[in-house]
Formats: sequence, C-alpha cells, structure tokens
Amino acid sequence: MTDLYAVFGNPIAHSKSPTIHAAFAQATGEDLRYEARLAPLNGFPEAARQFFAEGGKGCNVTVPFKEEAFQLADELTSRARLAGAVNTLKMEAGRLLGDNTDGAGLLVDIEKNLAFSVANKRVLLLGAGGAARGALPALLERHSALLVIANRNVERAVALAELFSSQEKRVQGMGFADLADFSEPFDLVINATSASLNDAALPLPAAIFAPDCLAYDMMYGREETPFLAQARSAGVLKRAQGLGMLIEQAAEAFLFWRGKRPPTDTLRQTLLQA
Ligand code: ATR
Repeated sequence: MTDLYAVFGNPIAHSKSPTIHAAFAQATGEDLRYEARLAPLNGFPEAARQFFAEGGKGCNVTVPFKEEAFQLADELTSRARLAGAVNTLKMEAGRLLGDNTDGAGLLVDIEKNLAFSVANKRVLLLGAGGAARGALPALLERHSALLVIANRNVERAVALAELFSSQEKRVQGMGFADLADFSEPFDLVINATSASLNDAALPLPAAIFAPDCLAYDMMYGREETPFLAQARSAGVLKRAQGLGMLIEQAAEAFLFWRGKRPPTDTLRQTLLQA
C-alpha cells in the first residue's frame, strides 16, 4: 500500500511541497503519495486528526498552523520544543510525534549549499515571530561570535533573546535603530520577518552589512525581495532567497518520516532555474 503524506496550510494552493516530495520519493524509490490540503482557519486540529484516522503517515504544517501543531503533538523533538512550533508530524505506534525542521533546513542551505560557515561569525537575525524562533535552535548550535535579534517590536526581540540566552551564550535583543550603535558590521544577516510579503523594506542602517556579508531572506518569490534589494544597494554580493531552505527543510522532514535523506542538488537547480 502506498503511504499517504500531506501538507496542511491556509492558503495552500501554491505550495511547492507536493512537487518537492514527489521528486524525493522518485529519487529514493519510496512508495508514497503527498498531497496539499487546505484546512479551515479554525479547523486545523480536526483536519489533522481526520487525516491520521484515514491512515495518513505524516504531514507537514505551514502558516498559520505551526503553533497548533505544536499543541496537537503527543511528543516533541527538542528542537520543536525550543522553536515552540511544529512543521512536521508523524504517527508512530498510535502517538503523534512533532518535529521542527525549519532551522536545520536553513542551516543546511547556508552552510552546505551556499558554503558559508556560521562558526565565529557575527550574526543578525531580523524578526521575532515564528520564523525567527524556528531558526534559533539551529543557529545557536553553530557557535557564532555574536547573535543579535532585531525586531520592529523591541519587547518581542528582547523576550526572544532572553528565552534563548544561556550561561554559554548570550543572545541580544533590540530594535532596528539600535543596530546603528554597533561599531563592527555583521557577516550574516537573515531576514525572518514577513515584511517582504507586503513588499515592505525594513528601516535598516546600511552599515550593518560587512563587505563579505551573506544576506539571506527566508522569504522567496519570483523577484528580488525588498530586503535583498537593500542588501544589494549596500554593496552585498552574496544574497540568497529561502527556496533552498524550503527544499532542505522538506528533506529533513522526509528523513524524519522515512529514515532516508533524499538528494537535493538537482531539484534545487531545477527549481531555482524555474
Ligand atoms: P512568522 O511566523 O512569519 O514569523 P509572525 O509571528 O506574525 O509571523 O511574525 C512576523 C514577523 O515579521 C515579526 O517579527 C514582525 O514584527 P513585529 O513583531 O514588530 O510585528 C515582522 N514584520 C512583519 N511585517 C513587518 C514590517 N512591515 N516591518 C517590520 N517588521 C515586520
């Protein structure tokens, strides 16, 4: 019997996940089907329960249901617990396990695909919502020299920084204007705000970007995002959108479900060219 997987979101029609997982299934020879399912805004838990009652083996969860998926899971991986959100669920022996593969996907894209090592770098994370929180567990493992969270709502940035600070590592939270106080620029600037969705530019001082900086927008679209346009104007040569992260978080989810990590290089080239 072919195993059934799905992605739940609202909206979901333009999701690339079915294409990505179909390519993974073909590349690994795994017998599975993967569908996009629209859940009503007030009906995600019911839709997910129904899916697993029908025999669904696992699902991805996207905006705006990741926090509800976190609540729904019977057990969580440590990175899902830290992220406070779940993007991958699987049913195993009658228990629903929740994982969060977003941060791992981001770091594989940055470190492997873009060949940029985060260790000892000065890192700036823009945003303090779900996307930023999902990225933080993986970023913290990388031993950066400095990790700063900047957000429009300063209290949110400070609270998130406190949540992720430990004895080994202090994370700093602040507003965008405070970034002007740094005497040294950042080597890696990651946009985890949803401002690009509304075509809005962030009020960032141009001096935050180091000459050899990587500017990474977790959003992706057909055209250059406002954040990457800002980075280009500031002279940043290394710029990337989040399509690679999308593919790598999917590969991590596939690994969680099937025990195999599918190859991603060919698919990434194809989707980037498309
Ligand atoms: P997500 O799950 O995508 O992170 P979210 O939890 O609603 O969604 O968080 C959205 C993030 O984008 C927040 O950091 C938000 O800033 P605030 O906390 O100040 O609201 C940020 N954001 C969205 N639109 C923005 C804009 N036009 N300018 C600056 N920040 C913006």
